[in-house]
Amino acid sequence: MAISKSPYRGTRDFFPEQMRLRNFIFSKMAEVSELFAYEPYDGPLLEEIDLYRAKSGDELINEQVYSFKDRGDREVAIRPEMTPTVARMVAQIHREVSKPLRWYAIPNLMRYEKPQKGRLREFWQYNADIFGAPESLGDLEIIQLAIGIMKSFGANNEHFEILINSRRFVDYVFAGPINLDAEMTKKLYKLIDKKNKMPAEKFSAEVNLITNDPNKSAIFERYVSLSSMNEVETFFKETYQGSNQEDDFSKSLQPLMNLFSQLDGLGLKDYIKFDPSIVRGLDYYTDVVFEIFDKHPDNRRAIAGGGAYANLLAIFGETPLPGIGFGMGEVPLTDFLTSHKLLPDFSKQTVDILLGYLDTTAEKASFEIAQKLRNGSIKVEVFLGEAKPKKIFSHSDKKQPNFLLILGSNEIESGEIQLKDLKTKAVHKIQLSDVDKMIELIKGSR
Ligand code: HAM
Repeated sequence: MAISKSPYRGTRDFFPEQMRLRNFIFSKMAEVSELFAYEPYDGPLLEEIDLYRAKSGDELINEQVYSFKDRGDREVAIRPEMTPTVARMVAQIHREVSKPLRWYAIPNLMRYEKPQKGRLREFWQYNADIFGAPESLGDLEIIQLAIGIMKSFGANNEHFEILINSRRFVDYVFAGPINLDAEMTKKLYKLIDKKNKMPAEKFSAEVNLITNDPNKSAIFERYVSLSSMNEVETFFKETYQGSNQEDDFSKSLQPLMNLFSQLDGLGLKDYIKFDPSIVRGLDYYTDVVFEIFDKHPDNRRAIAGGGAYANLLAIFGETPLPGIGFGMGEVPLTDFLTSHKLLPDFSKQTVDILLGYLDTTAEKASFEIAQKLRNGSIKVEVFLGEAKPKKIFSHSDKKQPNFLLILGSNEIESGEIQLKDLKTKAVHKIQLSDVDKMIELIKGSR
């Protein structure tokens, strides 16, 4: 039986057209990261699975990770996310380097998921993380960077929004006012994470089932109905002001309030929104958490997600070094850019000049000119083998280079060529030896 030509389920082949798109996306991400002084890093494709068992959460470990035993009987996983790797790397060097550490990477990751719109099994995920930033300034910078990346593609607040919450705040509401034990807290976290995917009645029924107390359910339902920082403050005032819990509650909310007012001060208010249903599925987050959401009605899903983690280095026996970062998948990002018509056309390769020759007497000169043009950073495609003009024209119609040059014995003898600008249809008569002039004309038309 013949072997299938299709790639493994949930993975993709990247033909040149898709590679052009991917390179475009990655180069924008890298460009903006460098503008924020983030440095590139990378890690291995395989990690020992315990690295993820420590803090990544049940869903990732039980349902999504690709794992196997290696020949030495070690349990190994293909990386399903980058955060544990970056934490492991930072744990090795953080004592010797000055902080904050600002790092970015664009790794390919694998998760065993049901392939669907925006979600595949192999995907590339931009990661940016900052470690050891003073107070909550890392939160501010990371969200500014996330907005910067989205803007570099021409997106604005009509296209996307950043939904923000704080685990410290949610933990406090759960442990303080609602007074839930750790088990119930875990269940409610999971439930909130699924809130937007289930009908309201079902959600309420599940809340009641978990708390088994109408008063607790009522406070919880009140919490999930909060839709702005103003409402959060009112909730705070109504519920706790004057009580002995006021101080703790206020502390749990402070980093989130600071973040909103700082982002507001930077003119980014229209990009951000408090959302009580954002709690994130990974266990290591401890404070601010956020997701970038597509506003397009066809694509209401997360393009990126991240948050702050205070204790991730503790799994390596290191002293705490707080970090915050996010991951952005190229799959949902591409869907986003496509729906909002923000992508250039990548269907054609961009070649500056197609150079063909009619007979073997012009072959050597063609290769020589091509090389000189390339030395001047001109992208040259040589039409290999002597060919009739008709054949070269037909290839040129398909590839659509910016310029066309055809050499034959006449050009070699006279020393004069005709360089055709295919955009303007102008024909430039130039000396065969004057490659500088050709370079100038070609660059001038870009
Ligand atoms: P995450 O929410 O699991 O977070 O993933 C972040 C983003 O990766 C998602 O919003 C989505 O864009 C993309 N993504 C996730 N799964 C898939 C998939 N199956 N197919 C395509 N894209 C996907 C994390 O991974 C955290 N480690 C991010 C982070 C970095 N937190 C702090 N620093």
